[in-house]
Amino acid sequence: MKHKTFIIGFLLMLCLAGCQSGQLQVVSLKVEMQENPQGVSTPSPRFSWQITSPGVDLRQQSYRIQVASSEEDLKKEKNLLWDSGIASGDESILIPYEGGKLSSGKAYYWRVKVATNQGETAWSAINHWSTALLDSTDWRAKWIGQDTMSNPGETNKGNTRLAARYLRKPFHAEKKVERAVLYISGLGAYEAYLNGKRVSDDVLAPTVSWYPEKVYYNVYDVTPLIGKGDNLLGVKLGNGRYFGMRESPTMIFGLPRLLAQLNIEYADGSTDTIVSDESWRVTSKGPIVANNEFDGEEYDARLELPDWNTAKYDDTEWLQADIMEAPGGKLTAQPNPNITVQDEITPVHITRLSDGRFILDMGQNMVGWLNINLKGKQGQPVTMRFAETLNADSTLYTANLRSAKVTDVYIPAKDGAFRWEPSFVFHGFRFVEIAGLDEQPSLSDFTGKVIYDRMQTTGRFETSNELIDQLFKNAYWGIRSNYRGMPTDCPQRDERQGWLGDRVTGCFGEAFVFDNALLYAKWLQDIEDSQSPEGDISDVSPRYWTIYDKDVTWPAAYFYAAKMLWRQYGDMEPVKRHYASMKRFLEHIQQVSMQDYILTKDTYGDWCMPPESQELIHSQDPSRKTAGAILSTTMYYSLLNLMQEFAGITGNQADIAGYKELAAKIKDAYNQRFFNTDSALYDNNTVTANILSLRLGLVPEGYEEKVFENIVRKTEVDFDGHVSTGVLGIQHLMRGLTEYGRVDLAYKIATNETYPSWGYMINKGATTIWELWNGDTADPAMNSGNHVMLLGDLLIWYYEDLAGIKNAPGSIAYKQLLMEPVFPDGLSHVKASYHSVYGEIKSEWRKEDGSFSWDIVIPGNTSAVVKLPKSLNIAQPEGAGVRNVKETESGIEIELGSGTYRLVNRG
Ligand code: BGC
Repeated sequence: MKHKTFIIGFLLMLCLAGCQSGQLQVVSLKVEMQENPQGVSTPSPRFSWQITSPGVDLRQQSYRIQVASSEEDLKKEKNLLWDSGIASGDESILIPYEGGKLSSGKAYYWRVKVATNQGETAWSAINHWSTALLDSTDWRAKWIGQDTMSNPGETNKGNTRLAARYLRKPFHAEKKVERAVLYISGLGAYEAYLNGKRVSDDVLAPTVSWYPEKVYYNVYDVTPLIGKGDNLLGVKLGNGRYFGMRESPTMIFGLPRLLAQLNIEYADGSTDTIVSDESWRVTSKGPIVANNEFDGEEYDARLELPDWNTAKYDDTEWLQADIMEAPGGKLTAQPNPNITVQDEITPVHITRLSDGRFILDMGQNMVGWLNINLKGKQGQPVTMRFAETLNADSTLYTANLRSAKVTDVYIPAKDGAFRWEPSFVFHGFRFVEIAGLDEQPSLSDFTGKVIYDRMQTTGRFETSNELIDQLFKNAYWGIRSNYRGMPTDCPQRDERQGWLGDRVTGCFGEAFVFDNALLYAKWLQDIEDSQSPEGDISDVSPRYWTIYDKDVTWPAAYFYAAKMLWRQYGDMEPVKRHYASMKRFLEHIQQVSMQDYILTKDTYGDWCMPPESQELIHSQDPSRKTAGAILSTTMYYSLLNLMQEFAGITGNQADIAGYKELAAKIKDAYNQRFFNTDSALYDNNTVTANILSLRLGLVPEGYEEKVFENIVRKTEVDFDGHVSTGVLGIQHLMRGLTEYGRVDLAYKIATNETYPSWGYMINKGATTIWELWNGDTADPAMNSGNHVMLLGDLLIWYYEDLAGIKNAPGSIAYKQLLMEPVFPDGLSHVKASYHSVYGEIKSEWRKEDGSFSWDIVIPGNTSAVVKLPKSLNIAQPEGAGVRNVKETESGIEIELGSGTYRLVNRG
C-alpha cells in the first residue's frame, strides 16, 4: 500500500470496513415487494432480498431459493415445491417463482441463501406468503347488505347521507383450528371483527377501485381470533366511494355491500366455510348515523349496540341480510397494502373563542382524524369542524373546502368521560373547531391519527439550510397526506381525486421519500380500468370523475409512473401489463388530436403558473401563458420516446421504428412551427415552452445552450430569479437549470422567500405545499393548502443533484449509482439517505472553509461511480472497495464497490 499513513490535510479516502456491523447475511426478504404478504394472486410470485456484510465490495455470485408448503418440510428439505438450485448471477430483486403450480388459499414458506465474493451466507430466516382464492369457483359467498335507506334524512341525492350497516354471523368451531383465513371485501369500506376483535389494523379497506371493472378483496389470517365453541364474525360497512359523497359529479354506485368468506381448516384435516349469505343479520340502526368522506361522520352513542360483534349479542331485532347485486368488477386480491394509522401527533395549542367554542391547533397540516378523550353531557352533541387555516379573527377558515362540510359529531349517551374516533371518514386539517363542551379540554385529550397507505418511509434529508429542510418536511407531509389507495390531488375539499397531471414527475420525486411502488402499480391498473373503449385515458382515475379530453399532459402520468416503477424499483411488470393500453392511447390521440404532426388538444395549459396579479387563480396574460400545442406536442413526443424504451423491454421491438419515425416527424414539425432559430426561443418565450423543449429533446442540435440562455434570461430578468412555471414547466426546472450549469439559479429558486416561491408559502405558515403559488390571496374556489403538484422535480433535484444519489445511466433500481453531487454556494452540508431495493444508500457531505468531506454508504450487491470536480482537489484513493480511479478533464472519477467510505480533500 502506497499511502500507509494518512497525512493530515492530505487526501483521503478511508474505507471504513467494519462499520457495517453484523455478519454476511440475507435480510429484508420480500414476496411481490411485501414482507410475508397474504393473498398473492400471481402464479409466479417474485422474490427479493438484500445482502449485507461487514466488508466492502460485496457481490452476489449465485443464489438458491427453496419453497415448501410447510416450515418443517422446508427445514428438512422434503417435498420442496421449488428448489432453484444454485442459480448463478447477481440478481436479487424480483426473481420469479418457477416451481410447481401453487394452490388456491394456501400458505407457502421460503428461504434463500446466496454465495458471494466474501463467502456463502447461511440460509435466511424462513418467510412466508399465502395465495389468494385463485379460481372464481373458490368463492361461495354472496354479496349482502341492507337494500333500503330506512333512516330519516337518508338520501342518495345531492350531499348523500346514509348510516353505517352492521352485519353479523354466529358460527361454531368445535375442533382445534389449524388455520383460518378471511377473504373479505366491503364496499365502500368495511371494518371486520372476530369475537369483538378487529381482524387487522387496516382502515378504510379495501383500496379504492373503478368498481365496474375491478373490486379488491383482502386476505387475513385470523387463526388466533377463533375460539372453541361459539364465534361471531361481525362487519361494519361504511359508504366510502361506493355510495359516493355527492350525487354528481362524483359517482354513486349503490348501497354498501359485503362479501366475506372464512375458510377454516381444523387440526383433524376437516374444513368449514362461513360465507356471507341470507343467513346473516343486518341493521342500520347503530351509532354511526351518517358517514360521508366529504362531510364527516356522525356518531350517536345512545344508539350503541354493546357487544354486537360478539357471540353473546341478541340480534332478533335486526333484519335478515339482503342479497345484493355483485358490483360488476372482477373480484381481485388486493395487490397493495391498505391504509392504516401511520403516525400520531398531539396538538400544540388550544384557544377558547368568546362564544365558548375551542380551536385546536395540531401544529401541522395533516390528514386523518382526531381521537378525542373528553367529558360530555348526555344528548349534547360535541361537534368538530376541520380546516387547514384560520381567519384573522382566529375562527375556522372553511371557504376553500367548497361544499365539503368536514364535520364530525359525537352525541354522548350519558354524562361523563368518553373516548371516540370516526371509522369511515378522514379530513385534511391543521385546525379543529370544537363545540358542545362545557369544560376546557387539555391538549392531551386529543390525538391526531395520521392515515395513509401502509408503506415505509425511505428517505431522510437534511442540510445546512433551514428553508431547504422545512421544504422537505412540507413535501413529506404533503405526500403522505395524499396517498389514499391512489395518489390524490388534495385531501380536504369536495374533490380528493386521482388527478393524473399532478403526478407525472411527482411520482418519481415521491419515491425517494416513500416506498410507493405498490401504490403506483395499483394506480396504473385504475388508469387502465378507467380507459375508454376508444383508448382515451381519463384525467381522473379511478374515473369517479370521468374526463376523456383527448389531451396528453395529464394522461402522461400513466407512462411516467410506469417508467418510475421500473427505474426506481426494478419492477418491469407495470410496463408489460399496460403496454398494449398505452399503445392504444397513443394511437387514439394521434388520430383525434394530431394535425400536421402537432398535437392540438390541451385542457389545462401550464396549470397554476404564477399569475400577473396575486388575486387571480389563472393568468390572463398571453405573454405568460404557454400554448397548449407546445405542452401536448412536447409531452407526446416524450411519450413516443418512452414507448421505444418500453417496446424494447417488453419484446415489442417491431413497434420501435414506427414510434421513432413519428417522433422525428413531430420534432421537425414542432420546430418549424414554434422555434425561432434567430433568437433560439420557442413561441412566446415562456420558461415552460423553452425548458420542455430542451429537456424533452426537441431542440435542434447545436441550439441547446442558446435556448438555455433564454430560460436563464427570462427567469433572471423578467421574473427576478423567481419561478414562472406551472405544473408542467416545474417538472423540469430544477434539473434543467442544474444540468446546464446554473445550479446557483436553481438554488436561488429553491431558497427564495418572496412570491412566487415555496419559501413564500412557508413564510405564510404553510406546513404542506399549496395548490397555488398565491394560495394565500387567490379565490378560495381553488386554494387547497395540501397539493403536491407544484413540487415538480424539486425532490428529484434534492436527491440526484444536492445529495448525488442517482441511478447511473442504464442502471435499474440503483444497481449502479452515479454519485455526482453539486455544491451551490451557500450550502455547506447535505445529509441524505434513501432506502433502495438493495439497501440503504447514504450521502453526507460537508464543505466549509476549504475543507471537504463526504461520507457515503453503498448497499451490498451494488456499486457506484463517484465523480467530483477538480476544484475539490481529491487525491487518488486506493484500498479495499476501490475498483477503479480515473483522473478526467473535469475532476476525478472513482468506481466503488459496496461499503462505507469517506472522501476528504487535500486541504
Ligand atoms: C385539481 C388539480 C387537477 C386540476 C386539473 C384541480 O381541481 O385539484 O390538482 O390536476 O384540477 O384541472
